[in-house]
Amino acid sequence: MKVDTLIVGAGAAGLMAAAHCGGSVLVVDHAKKAGDKIRISGGGRCNFTNLYASPENFLSQNPHFCKSALARYTQWDFIDLVTRHGIAYHEKTLGQLFCNGSAKEIIAMLMAEMEAAKAQLWLQTSVTKVQKTDQGFSVALQKGDQATDLTCTNLIIATGGKSIPKMGATGWGYDIAAQFGLEVVETRAGLVPLTFGPDVMADVAPMSGLSLNASVQTRDTQFEEGLLCTHRGLSGPSILQISSYWTPSTPISVNLDPKGYILPALRETRQKTGKRAVHNVLADHLPTKLAQMMVDKAGLAGNLADQSDSHLARLEDCYRKWMLTPSGTEGYRTAEVTLGGVSTADLNSQTMQAKDVNGLYFIGEVVDVTGWLGGFNFQWAWSSAVAAGRAI
Ligand code: FDA
Repeated sequence: MKVDTLIVGAGAAGLMAAAHCGGSVLVVDHAKKAGDKIRISGGGRCNFTNLYASPENFLSQNPHFCKSALARYTQWDFIDLVTRHGIAYHEKTLGQLFCNGSAKEIIAMLMAEMEAAKAQLWLQTSVTKVQKTDQGFSVALQKGDQATDLTCTNLIIATGGKSIPKMGATGWGYDIAAQFGLEVVETRAGLVPLTFGPDVMADVAPMSGLSLNASVQTRDTQFEEGLLCTHRGLSGPSILQISSYWTPSTPISVNLDPKGYILPALRETRQKTGKRAVHNVLADHLPTKLAQMMVDKAGLAGNLADQSDSHLARLEDCYRKWMLTPSGTEGYRTAEVTLGGVSTADLNSQTMQAKDVNGLYFIGEVVDVTGWLGGFNFQWAWSSAVAAGRAI
């Protein structure tokens, strides 16, 4: 069997590329269904892009690499596609666009686009061997007990990262990159909850389920979004965002009053109704358990009226600079993305083609380009897929 282009991986990037390649296209995936991660994304509503997507929202060893693809297929292009397919959507927060109905609408749209381009899809199909030939590649496929030998001019690797192995995520794309001599930047879990040792968990575990707005910082990177205490550690958007920047053994600083409203309010209350217990007054502004914990950390007791300015400053330091050193992350089991991947130094940023292997392309999450939480990872999948598709 011969096709112009073989795409391995029928996820976001693979399906999108199939619609843009031209020529004969076969997409293979070892899963039972295409686009499984799209289906579960955004709580089942798929946060399919972000109104403010720009290169600053991505991590990579080369932060410039993503610029070309993002500029040539933008969030507006994808919004236009979604609109043409009559999919209703809304902005939830911070430019994040979600389907009003179901993420399945995005999968159906991609399948319709792929079918319009006359691309074929083989599910439950594995690739057992890939070899370079003079004209392109020779590939051995296995579908159940049926083996197929195939030749193709172009081979697009769209197998994603290692996150959520129980959904079929593998490191196969990295192995193929290594087979063809491309460098793979060390991978690690990103957009993932942080875990802590017993000392921190003694404070956090009793607050499991509690959520509030917070600003979380590591070194000079900071995100202000929701924070959630769980029985395993800390989660919520601000923690997931910072996890992509966190490096082992370094602390994070949690600010539970990012706007700095609480201290002036405490001073005012001290003047008017200072006879209330300090932890009760703080609980007007923070969840009760957190308020008690911060008062204990500051070593304060008694009524608000008993507290000097320096006592209140010490308390403020506790809830605005809560320093915690994670012991690790929950890892690929719950991570939304994989940081690192196929080195951008070995890829052409206009086409996603390997610089030294004619016809070999890497797109989507398998590449060392990782977005923030908020629709940025799908935008990278769409943009990098279109870059490769148009080049073919
Ligand atoms: P993707 O993982 O989508 O697809 C890879 C495909 O390759 C899969 O179908 C897999 O079965 C197949 N495959 C893997 N190895 C193979 C092999 N050896 N042989 C054959 N096939 C193979 N992003 C976002 O922007 N907005 C959001 O709302 C969310 N939400 C979200 C929720 C959850 C729970 C997760 C885990 C992730 C998200 N993401 C997200 C991230 C987003 O899902 C992810 O970045 C994209 O799906 C990446 O698209 P790719 O096509 O590169 O990989």
